[in-house]
Amino acid sequence: MNKITIAIDGHSSCGKSTMAKDLAREIGYVYIDTGAMYRAVTLFCIQNGFIKDETIDTEELQKHMNDISITFQLNPNTGKPDTYLNGVCVENKIRTLEVSSKVSYVAALGFVREAMVDLQRLMGEAKGVIMDGRDIGTVVFPNAELKIFVTASDEIRAQRRYDELIAKGEKCNMEEILANIRERDRIDSTRAVSPLRKADDAIVLDNSHMTIPEQKAWLLAQFQRVAKG
Ligand code: DC
Repeated sequence: MNKITIAIDGHSSCGKSTMAKDLAREIGYVYIDTGAMYRAVTLFCIQNGFIKDETIDTEELQKHMNDISITFQLNPNTGKPDTYLNGVCVENKIRTLEVSSKVSYVAALGFVREAMVDLQRLMGEAKGVIMDGRDIGTVVFPNAELKIFVTASDEIRAQRRYDELIAKGEKCNMEEILANIRERDRIDSTRAVSPLRKADDAIVLDNSHMTIPEQKAWLLAQFQRVAKG
């Protein structure tokens, strides 16, 4: 079978990364979580005092873009890739509500997107890659052979995020999470640079009422159909 490029875009917290990671493991592809890359840049901003409330010191961030190195390393215990910022594993730190509440502002900056898209294209140039994000099928790999656009209702996405944070022992509040999801959708979909939108040739998956095994089977069937052809 020829190796293909798989682009999985969609709204926040609708299980894109779970399905993408599972498929990557099953078919031996490389999985790249592009949201983690924007989260790592956001963490870098927080650590260096470049974000105060919702205001980003874009001048300082732009000056320091070359000081940011983002890599992924397979974690042998989980079988999934962990995100590294300048050589330090930040997989947990980038998933906090603090980073979640600021990342959309960072991801809306043109120079940040340009740097991340360049890196994503490099990471995916050999094909055999599954990339999840918001602009993979529209901007990063517009010629991807398989494009999926995933969505689910706001309430179901908030519940999934809540369960995930509770399982990690983080204190959280359902209303705050729902508000954060809606706000991120709003910013991601209305930003001037590469807004979240479905590529014309993407297949829509609304997984509001699907189990993880059902989604996995559906995605595998899509892959087999396209990769065989
Ligand atoms: O998928 P996620 O929730 O980890 O993404 C974090 C943020 O990054 C989200 O607000 C959207 C943004 N993002 C983006 O703009 N483009 C991508 N390719 C991936 C994520």
